[in-house]
Amino acid sequence: MNADLMDIDRAVVDPGLYANPERYHALFRHLRRNEPVRWTAPDGFAPFWLVSRHADIMTAEGAAATYLNAPRAVLKPATIEEALSKTQGGHREMIRSMNNMDGDEHRQNRAITSRQFLLPAVNRMTEEIDALAVEFVDRLVARAPECDFARDIALWYPLRVIMSLLGVPKTDEARMLELTLQIFNDAPGTKGADKRGTVQAFFDYFRPIVEDRRANPRDDIASKIANAQINGQPLGDFETFSYFLTVATAGHDTTSSTIAGGLLALIEHPEEMRKLRENPACLDTLADEMMRWVAPVKHFFRTASADCALGGQVIRQGDSLMLAFPSGSRDEAVLAEPDAFRIDRTGNRHVALGAGAHACLGQHLARLEVKQFFKRLIERTDNFALTGPVKRTESLFISGVVNLPVRFTVI
Ligand code: HEM
Repeated sequence: MNADLMDIDRAVVDPGLYANPERYHALFRHLRRNEPVRWTAPDGFAPFWLVSRHADIMTAEGAAATYLNAPRAVLKPATIEEALSKTQGGHREMIRSMNNMDGDEHRQNRAITSRQFLLPAVNRMTEEIDALAVEFVDRLVARAPECDFARDIALWYPLRVIMSLLGVPKTDEARMLELTLQIFNDAPGTKGADKRGTVQAFFDYFRPIVEDRRANPRDDIASKIANAQINGQPLGDFETFSYFLTVATAGHDTTSSTIAGGLLALIEHPEEMRKLRENPACLDTLADEMMRWVAPVKHFFRTASADCALGGQVIRQGDSLMLAFPSGSRDEAVLAEPDAFRIDRTGNRHVALGAGAHACLGQHLARLEVKQFFKRLIERTDNFALTGPVKRTESLFISGVVNLPVRFTVI
């Protein structure tokens, strides 16, 4: 028997699993079929229900009052959760942001920027995003005939998009990149104290931007956050900086991984690359298929506010649940041929962006970024091939391709 199936508890907390899509999907195919809501109690972690089917993920997503985001949003070793719980008033996250809030507090925090991320507002950014897509495809072209696509291009383009929304100048992007990578790194040896230092460094960085937007508010997202009020009271400093950090990190690695993993999928499926070149209408469905395929966010947690039933299991009040988005996005019960990468897939019911009250706030922006990038890419380049090994991040939370050495031609 496959070693992962003998020790599922250990496998799901092994960051290496998330850097190996074949191993991940084999394990979760088994779980969806045999133990769709599975009690999981790995050594060194507080136990949880592992939720792998699309239907059960959607049930939890759709019942936000029963399945709470607080106090546990993301998997961490028990020692770190316990230490955080003491300093964060029962919460087990280092920051206070919308993905670990519930009810009115969540709605009010999300509302601070939600209008800026709705489709009409994002559509108004098309020209700006397109100009950045052109700039980064130019950068790719300048590196022909070979480059590391993930490190040289995919990492930087979404970073520029999100940092420009947050008021970060171009010259500081390398620093921002360094901090984001540290936040998501679960590699062995990374300590809670290191991450606390990184969070503080983020906060320190954003302080002058917040002060500037308070003194000179403009029509941008940074000003909306810096001057936000809830029930007539200004947002506290901790919440303000947490907001900046959440948007900065949520909007970066996820989209970079989708673009790098998306190009890899096109290289591995040359018939899909051909389709894209022959039928530009595929640009409208490509982003969702790439998000489904790559599913860079590996999970979010929920905690039951009352006894309930899910997938045939009795969930007790206080139990926590890990929603496995990449697994739900490959569920054969709702997707035809889920293990086929098809850029013209319609009715794509993936859960790579979550759903319900906490559904990804930046989803329209992310779709636009991916679409514009590949639109510009195929205009200028062709004949992509791998020239070396592909490397993925080892992270239990957000992971994807970090090295993608490619050869290509310029057209
Ligand atoms: C391909 C790119 C992206 C993917 C795959 C992705 C995925 C996700 C997922 C799975 C969630 C949790 C949903 C849930 O709990 O139901 C989420 C939440 C969120 N995302 Fe994204 N995301 C992406 C891009 C972005 C971008 C560009 C932004 C920019 C602002 C963003 C901002 C957020 C925020 C603020 C939340 C928290 C929403 C809440 O709790 O109410 N994301 N995202």
